Amino acid sequence: MMLVTLALMALLVTSLWLYNKHRLSYWAKRGILSPPGLPLLGNFVDVVMGKPGRWAFDEKVYRNYTREGLGGAYILLSPILYIADPEMIKQILVKDFDHFSDRQSFTSLHKNDKSMNESLFNLNGEKWKRLRNLMTPAFTSGKLKNMFHLVCEKADTLKAFCLKEAAKKPFVNVKKACGRFTIDTIASCAFGLECNSFEDEDAVFPAKVQPFFAAGILRIFKFMLVATFPFITGLMDVGVFPEEKFFFQQVAEETIAARRKGVRRGDFLDLLLEAQASEENSSDDQTKAKILDDATIISQSILFIIVGYDTTATTIAIASYLLSKNPEVQQRLRQELQEIVKEEGKLTYQGVMDAKYLDACIMETLRLYPPAPNLERVCSKDYKVPGTNITVRKGDIIEVPIWSIHHDEKYWPEAEVYNPDRFMPENKADIVPYTHMPFGGGPRNCIAMRFALMEAKVALSTLLLTFDMKTAPGFRDIDLVNGSFLIMPSTVNLVLEPLGEE
Ligand code: HEM
Ligand SMILES: *[C@@H]1O[C@H](CO)[C@@H](O)[C@H](O)[C@H]1NC(C)=O
Ligand SMILES: *[C@@H]1O[C@H](CO)[C@@H](O)[C@H](O)[C@H]1NC(C)=O
Ligand SMILES: *[C@@H]1O[C@H](CO)[C@@H](O)[C@H](O)[C@H]1NC(C)=O
Ligand SMILES: *[C@@H]1O[C@H](CO)[C@@H](O)[C@H](O)[C@H]1NC(C)=O
Ligand SMILES: *[C@@H]1O[C@H](CO)[C@@H](O)[C@H](O)[C@H]1NC(C)=O
Repeated sequence: MMLVTLALMALLVTSLWLYNKHRLSYWAKRGILSPPGLPLLGNFVDVVMGKPGRWAFDEKVYRNYTREGLGGAYILLSPILYIADPEMIKQILVKDFDHFSDRQSFTSLHKNDKSMNESLFNLNGEKWKRLRNLMTPAFTSGKLKNMFHLVCEKADTLKAFCLKEAAKKPFVNVKKACGRFTIDTIASCAFGLECNSFEDEDAVFPAKVQPFFAAGILRIFKFMLVATFPFITGLMDVGVFPEEKFFFQQVAEETIAARRKGVRRGDFLDLLLEAQASEENSSDDQTKAKILDDATIISQSILFIIVGYDTTATTIAIASYLLSKNPEVQQRLRQELQEIVKEEGKLTYQGVMDAKYLDACIMETLRLYPPAPNLERVCSKDYKVPGTNITVRKGDIIEVPIWSIHHDEKYWPEAEVYNPDRFMPENKADIVPYTHMPFGGGPRNCIAMRFALMEAKVALSTLLLTFDMKTAPGFRDIDLVNGSFLIMPSTVNLVLEPLGEE
């Protein structure tokens, strides 16, 4: 008996060892370098524990384990291929998109959980394509223009809040203030709700959003587990998204019911409901299941809150911080904005979107601190990488190390210096294509890029036209939250001095 048990255990260990060896030699067999990994975990520990975040590990692969634009790594035995060469990145994201239209999907197979299943971020294949086509019209500049006043209203609240804070305190936590601004804006534009998170210290929305951004090893482990073995969610309740999703689900359901009774605001929810109506009307192939049912619309609203909150707040807060550290840049930008206001009487959609130096300051902020520090695609059909003998197999994960490319001296001389002039029209031609990708690239890029930029530009302009911004005494550099997928500063404390009336 004992002997049998021992033999079985030996067999198990040997097969695990062989399997492990087989998996962890995936890249070596293909002539691709990869950092040494642990048995069964691969480089998982580095990825999860690496400080400050995942991009620190990406940087290691980018610097020391790429050859001819390609590098390898393993997450829990899943091979990942790093694409480090801009030309190759373009090829994969744009030209050969049909091989790489998917992402790892965090859908829940749990039968009670529809809330995140149908989100655009998660969907793949034909379903993604149809939904993306249906949603795209909601993000055109014509539609954004209609939301401009909603964003301006929220920026005015941000201004009032900062004025009040600045009068009370030596410095203001601008990150927190921007978080309230972006959540109010998204609540307004995606749910049609006034959530007043500035006035109300215990406002419900910010409290319910926070858990989605909780960093932590357990959380990341869950993500990777679900990505690697999706069937697990069907067996156990290990949803990667916190319970709070049900709160947003309910809010969205109630709002949709109200819209059906005739309330209209021209926001994202209206636009999605319109897309639903036009899909129902469309004469083509009645047998094809309609894709935009209510559950799908609700998924998008929740998604907008998750993806639109911290990314944009981080952008505005870090831009403010960089302008505080670079007073001459700040002064030049303020001048540009004051001229626009003088000409038009106020901030207008066209004025904000056409301001060249404003755009350059935001672009340079997004270069140094891309809120999403890497991009991912999953290979959906075998693909031979042009100019090499390497074939990417269906299911392999592709990683674009955005942060590393944004900080590479090869493309960005004095890469660590904040220099918005790089993005001024006269210098733009010097930028190597596909070396600046804060919003990703190709047909699966950030669908809301223009909306996010409008939001950030309005908020930053409002702050700069109201305050002179300086770093708080004792505040040295931005401290990024450890163990997060996103780039998030923990706090950005700035001294805000109201400008004198002119
Ligand atoms: C400064 C703010 C933002 C940044 C830096 C950002 C960045 C990104 C990036 C890098 C991606 C992945 C692109 C790719 O894989 O090529 C993405 C996707 C996406 N973003 Fe954003 N984003 C921002 C704001 C927003 C906002 C405000 C919304 C919604 C209102 C939004 C909605 C989405 C959606 C729906 C996707 C998935 C698109 C798809 O898979 O088809 N983002 N974003
Ligand atoms: C790359 O390797 C060099 C030499 O071993 C080392 O000094 C450096 O820290 C490594 N870079 C990264 C980002 O790990
Ligand atoms: C969620 O999506 C997965 C994969 O597309 C699917 O198998 C599952 O049935 C969906 N769950 C629900 C509740 O719709
Ligand atoms: C759908 O069809 C109805 C009846 O033909 C029409 O009144 C309505 O305007 C159409 N809606 C859209 C969004 O095309
Ligand atoms: C690909 O393989 C062929 C035959 O083994 C070899 O002649 C060629 O040099 C290889 N090409 C590259 C880019 O490695
Ligand atoms: C992240 O970790 C570093 C090094 O351990 C530490 O100095 C820093 O304060 C941490 N950042 C945050 C926001 O906790």
